[in-house]
Amino acid sequence: MPEIQAKEATEQTPTTFHSSGDAHEIITGRCPVCKEPLGKRYIPFSSLTYDIACKCMRDKAEQERARELEEKCIATCRKLLNTYLRTLPEIYKAVTLYNYKERDEDTRNALGVARRYVVKWPELRKEGKGLLFCGTSGNGKTHLSCAIGREVAAMGYTVRYIRTARLLRIIKDAQLGNLEDTIAPFERCSLLILDDLGKEKGSDWVNEQLNELIDCRTANKRPMIVTCNMTPEQFASDYDSAIVDRLNSSCYRVKLETESYRRL
Ligand SMILES: Nc1ncnc2c1ncn2[C@@H]1O[C@H](COP(=O)(O)OP(=O)(O)O)[C@@H](O)[C@H]1O
Ligand SMILES: [Mg+2]
Ligand SMILES: [Zn+2]
Repeated sequence: MPEIQAKEATEQTPTTFHSSGDAHEIITGRCPVCKEPLGKRYIPFSSLTYDIACKCMRDKAEQERARELEEKCIATCRKLLNTYLRTLPEIYKAVTLYNYKERDEDTRNALGVARRYVVKWPELRKEGKGLLFCGTSGNGKTHLSCAIGREVAAMGYTVRYIRTARLLRIIKDAQLGNLEDTIAPFERCSLLILDDLGKEKGSDWVNEQLNELIDCRTANKRPMIVTCNMTPEQFASDYDSAIVDRLNSSCYRVKLETESYRRL
């Protein structure tokens, strides 16, 4: 086996010895692929000796780092999506932008807006721009809102869905406890979906907390998607004018007055 013996001999016997700066390098050979030197690097007084990495080894390590990072990113996105899906009522867990049917001009327009919202999310997020779906019941305002939430969560953002009436109950129950901690997740998430605004009947104090939450999100440019079972005109004339102003300035309004999908 003369060949193997020769190879072992070159691996063990330094062919060159460098002392560059603080490190001593013992070069035992060259990589057959990239031709860069191979060997050991000894850092004096550290008791540490490293393998000298050639370009192939450095590239491989870089690829592994990139893959690990990608896997970590995918896992984070999946976790955020699952956390968001847990906030949804059962019938909206499976809704997407793909299973929403265009039935007339309003639905076509609303679906188009929802798709563009998702595509433009990175800039809209920075601008704090949201959507306000207004119109009759049963034509997919909640469906589209939840479907947008799904896409945004899958991109790696925190999204929360809550019905306004339920939020007010949560606020009321927290009145004597720690209101700050209860409200914080709704204030801080990247996208808040506030469903069925306008039907709630809370006390002045509770309504004030809702105003405060909307105010806080608007002031910090954190987007909201709001649905409301009123025509835009009714909403503008009947609802709390401070909230109407805030939402008008921070949300694009989408009208949906198609006949209810539930009755089809
Ligand atoms: N255009 C549509 N295509 C597919 N499903 C729809 C459509 N519009 C409504 N739906 C479905 O009908 C039901 C009622 O819609 P929903 O989003 O709750 O209406 P809204 O919030 O406007 O009252 C949901 O199950 C929803 O998935
Ligand atoms: Mg709804
Ligand atoms: Zn190499």
